[in-house]
Amino acid sequence: MNFPTVRHRRLRRTAALRGLVRETVLTLNDLIYPIYVTYGSDIKDEISSMPGVYRFSLDRLEAEIREIVDAGITSIMIFGIPEHKDAVGTSAYDPNGIVQEATRKVKEWAPDLVVIADTCLCQYTDHGHCGIVHRNERTGEAEVDNDASLALLVRTAVSQAQAGADMIAPSNMMDGFVLSIRAGLDEAGFADIPILSYSVKYSSAYYGPFREAAHSAPQYGDRKSYQMDPANLREALREAESDIAEGADMLMVKPALAYLDVIRALKENFDLPVAAYNVSGEYAMVKAASANGWIDEKSIVMESLLGMKRAGADLIITYHAKDVARWL
Ligand code: PBG
Ligand code: ZN
Repeated sequence: MNFPTVRHRRLRRTAALRGLVRETVLTLNDLIYPIYVTYGSDIKDEISSMPGVYRFSLDRLEAEIREIVDAGITSIMIFGIPEHKDAVGTSAYDPNGIVQEATRKVKEWAPDLVVIADTCLCQYTDHGHCGIVHRNERTGEAEVDNDASLALLVRTAVSQAQAGADMIAPSNMMDGFVLSIRAGLDEAGFADIPILSYSVKYSSAYYGPFREAAHSAPQYGDRKSYQMDPANLREALREAESDIAEGADMLMVKPALAYLDVIRALKENFDLPVAAYNVSGEYAMVKAASANGWIDEKSIVMESLLGMKRAGADLIITYHAKDVARWL
């Protein structure tokens, strides 16, 4: 019997050969770094379930922004923790709200840094839902009122754009949010501000650490009536399709690691850029295992992010971005 003529190992022999045939690369241009901002002064509070991630008050934010820019990160996403919560999430669309203030400052300190605003109400409502809640007259049950929430989300997005946000990323999962926000932005003179839609956002246990960080856990019920069922893939295509029809510029899949097939499906079926959100719970698991010495953090992170890119992600929103910047 002849020895095989096909030998896959020929192209794996040296680092240079492996480099020549590498199919996927991860660069800093692919990464978006999420940051949490809060009221008060002199605050740089580490989030216990997310080592290395902090809530910053605005007076401590500048140093962090300089670090981010110096590291070569080109884009951030801002999440706010307001001073005041109420039933209708007033602080979300306050022109002087925490995200609006932070955005104004960041654009002053670092005009070239792309600032993306997350558009949702859950950090700002006292009940912790992503829209406003009303009592359904027919069933008598409390539910998130889709259409009434849209108006408030539009106000939020417009106030974020007015503060200088370069991109709007609505994460609320109301039906029609892209269409409403697009119309609102256009009307307010922001026709050139793109929408990164959280098109395919699953109802996921992986958001646990975020909800601790942002104090945004729902006070009753859950988000299953608006976020997607983790069991569904075809529905993800329908979500993406309607968002595109409504004017989305980019699509997002969230979380990332348990949903690589969804990333791939969006990439194959549509031609918009696809972002993957490597969420807080995914980060927390890696940090916990590496703190115990059970895994090699750098290798695990790079392999995971590469996997998201290989699945089809053009962009990755990740709390690991600063570490990756050091490693690359
Ligand atoms: C707000 C929002 C959430 C995340 C991003 N925007 C939480 C949620 O929907 O409960 C999660 C981010 C993460 O877990 O890192 N709707
Ligand atoms: Zn929300």
